[in-house]
Amino acid sequence: MKKAFLTVAVLIGAISLVGCSTNDSSITNGGDSGNQTDTENPNTGSGDSSNTGGSEEKAVNAIVVYFSATGNTERVAQTIAGHIDSAIYELEPVDPYTSADLNYGNQSSRVVEEHNRILAGEDVNIELVDVDFEEFADADYVFLGAPVWWQELSWVIEDFVASNNFSNKTIIPFGTSASSGYTLGNLTPLIEDDENVTLLDPQRFRSSVSDDDVIEWVDGLALL
Ligand SMILES: Cc1cc2nc3c(=O)[nH]c(=O)nc-3n(C[C@H](O)[C@H](O)[C@H](O)COP(=O)(O)O)c2cc1C
Repeated sequence: MKKAFLTVAVLIGAISLVGCSTNDSSITNGGDSGNQTDTENPNTGSGDSSNTGGSEEKAVNAIVVYFSATGNTERVAQTIAGHIDSAIYELEPVDPYTSADLNYGNQSSRVVEEHNRILAGEDVNIELVDVDFEEFADADYVFLGAPVWWQELSWVIEDFVASNNFSNKTIIPFGTSASSGYTLGNLTPLIEDDENVTLLDPQRFRSSVSDDDVIEWVDGLALL
């Protein structure tokens, strides 16, 4: 009798454990939202970045694309991709920015010189190592991140933006900055040229934003 009772108790325990296996992400399904090591950067060549393996289907089909000169935006991008279990791609200039290049206090630095050319109406095209990303075509949502440079997302993203077709996609811009917000001057032409492109409002994070704040924002997008 005692043995029969124990067997029933063990069975009930096992069933309730299975029933409790939930996912704390409001965006992904069926996956382990806490396992950030599943996210791979195809640019690192560290394995297959395909999301198509297995029978589990993503609830939201998103990718994260970013440029980061000093690592702040990269950290945010990695947090987003880890949380939604998406592919993540870094935009890398063929001619990378050195710290001297980034010194906007120096009137003859590369960024100041490029910015002056933009202000003068010139097209400053920063060539990128890669703009064609395997999972772009199928993505419904493109998280697009960059540092804020003079109240805009850095112009480094423009080669990627100009080289791809965002029709029927939603762009979710995010930027990190020391203090100021930004406008979407380098992205608005996309929605002017194609009514099937959706551009969300600019999201700005402080340079040292916490992972929790980033995740709260992603969840708040309610992309499901
Ligand atoms: C060229 C340049 C321009 C910047 N312009 C601004 C700005 O307009 N407003 C601001 O708050 N921070 C500005 N910053 C600070 C960066 O936005 C901030 O450090 C950002 O987090 C850097 O991101 P990253 O590490 O991904 O490159 C600027 C930095 C640089 C290098």
